[in-house]
Amino acid sequence: MKLFVTGGAGFIGSNFILYWMKKYPEDKIINFDKLTYAGNLENLKEVEKNPNYEFIQGDICNKRLVEDVTRNIDIIVHFAAESHVDRSILDASPFIQTNIVGTHVLLEAAVKNKVPRFHHVSTDEVFGALPLNSTEKFMDTTPYNPHSPYSASKAASDHLVRAYGDTYGLQYTLSNCSNNFGPYHFPEKLIPLAITNIIEGKKVPVYGDGLYVRDWLYVLDHCEAIDAIIKKGTIGKTYLVGGLTDDISNIDVIKKIITIMEVDESVITFVKDRPGHDRRYAIDWSTINKELGWSPKHTFETALAETVEWFKKNEEWWKRIKSGVYKDYYNTQYK
Ligand code: NAD
Ligand code: DAU
Repeated sequence: MKLFVTGGAGFIGSNFILYWMKKYPEDKIINFDKLTYAGNLENLKEVEKNPNYEFIQGDICNKRLVEDVTRNIDIIVHFAAESHVDRSILDASPFIQTNIVGTHVLLEAAVKNKVPRFHHVSTDEVFGALPLNSTEKFMDTTPYNPHSPYSASKAASDHLVRAYGDTYGLQYTLSNCSNNFGPYHFPEKLIPLAITNIIEGKKVPVYGDGLYVRDWLYVLDHCEAIDAIIKKGTIGKTYLVGGLTDDISNIDVIKKIITIMEVDESVITFVKDRPGHDRRYAIDWSTINKELGWSPKHTFETALAETVEWFKKNEEWWKRIKSGVYKDYYNTQYK
């Protein structure tokens, strides 16, 4: 099989490529990535010389290039996106461009080149927010109600994918997953930011009252879910993918990290809240479990400890990021 992976130099995309090439060494992968601030080819060092792996630097908004490189492939696995909510609040334009226009360009190319399969990776944030202290979960039937420019742009991309299925017969599957964490997680997101700040002796910024709840999914569990959907999923269907967490607030996530890293709670600093901040996410992943036999394997506690270990062992990787352009963003966001 020949896979065309967009955004393969990012956090989840690179984990997916490493996972896939290990599990299916006979398959070919083209990694198509613009290499924005979030794209890092260092993540893929392990496979860069593998003859079944090819990297093409390019923008999914570039119609001519995308049409050209999506000929004779078996599946597009679409990860490329602007992915950070806070950045979308500072400037929504790249989110509209990449997440909506870019997805549209890719869909047009897929139809024109008769690509047999399209898998779109999306987010639970399209569903909006659930109330705190409820047992409600997002389900396949939950209506869309996005609140940030990021989630609105992802919602638009989901609608486009489904429209291309209904209108042009595109053979697609779609997944909406919760908050991933693990190796190669860009240190602008809560968990890697907290771990790396603690190593650097800096404070950990917690938004608002810190009682916001996310559903945490270890990135390798996510890769296995996408694998199951690609291999066994029903065409035209959406799968919700979530983790093994009971509700856990951001402040309790930070406290767990603090315990693992053996520092005290004085590292926590409460900062200004994120505008439009969604209170709670929780995923009902029973459909993918019943239909495809997938379930997450990693508990939050074990995977979090492994993640802390990974960041401790890979200081060079994140220090290069934190000392580069990312510094400007950090200073603007937490000024
Ligand atoms: P990321 O920000 O780490 O990586 C995004 C990648 O896309 C980068 O390599 C970047 O260079 C590339 N990219 C950006 N714009 C591009 C363009 N115009 N053309 C080509 N490449 C471009 O993102 P991530 O966290 O790995 O997320 C991957 C996908 O999963 C996204 O679609 C995101 O919405 C979705 N998602 C992420 C999470 C999460 O917790 N990280 C959860 C749910 C869904
Ligand atoms: O739910 C899936 C989504 O998860 C993905 O679609 C996004 O691409 C991904 O970035 C992530 O979005 P979040 O906004 O939930 O992730 P983030 O790590 O930015 O924030 C997690 C929670 O922690 C959220 O409630 C905001 C809070 N937070 C975040 C940062 C960066 C803080 O309290 N302090 C911080 O400094």
